[in-house]
Amino acid sequence: MALERTLSIIKPDATTRNLTGKINAKFEEAGLRIIAQKRIQLTKAQAGKFYEVHAERPFYDELCDFMASAPVVVQVLEGDGAIAKNREVMGATNPADAAPGTIRAEFAQSVGENSVHGSDAADTAAAEISYFFAGLELVG
Ligand code: CMP
Repeated sequence: MALERTLSIIKPDATTRNLTGKINAKFEEAGLRIIAQKRIQLTKAQAGKFYEVHAERPFYDELCDFMASAPVVVQVLEGDGAIAKNREVMGATNPADAAPGTIRAEFAQSVGENSVHGSDAADTAAAEISYFFAGLELVG
């Protein structure tokens, strides 16, 4: 399997409940290496730009408010098949559907406050990584 990089965000519901370390442990136990990481406070406009693919969805405004409500931790995860592996470790978007042992099954509070975001494909991973990180910040 190819070595890949994917963008991960630990969302406000998780940072405010001090879950960053527990979530990072899930990534590392799955063989994903955290090769870049920073804690930032997004503005609503910055969150809106990141999620602009969802701009027409009914939950968009609420999603942008939530992502700007408290700090997030943005990260780049690297590993064999990292994009799919991260989605497996996160579990389904709605925690009610997430498999036992996944991050969302253990920590998420609702479909909106679902603790983590992960890129869904190679092209979105590249675009999302470059939204938050400069090349020199990625230390594999
Ligand atoms: P994420 O993987 O970050 O991508 C888009 C986000 O929209 C998703 O996780 C959810 O947190 C959020 N969201 C809020 N409401 C819904 C909904 N009804 N269906 C899907 N995603 C939703």
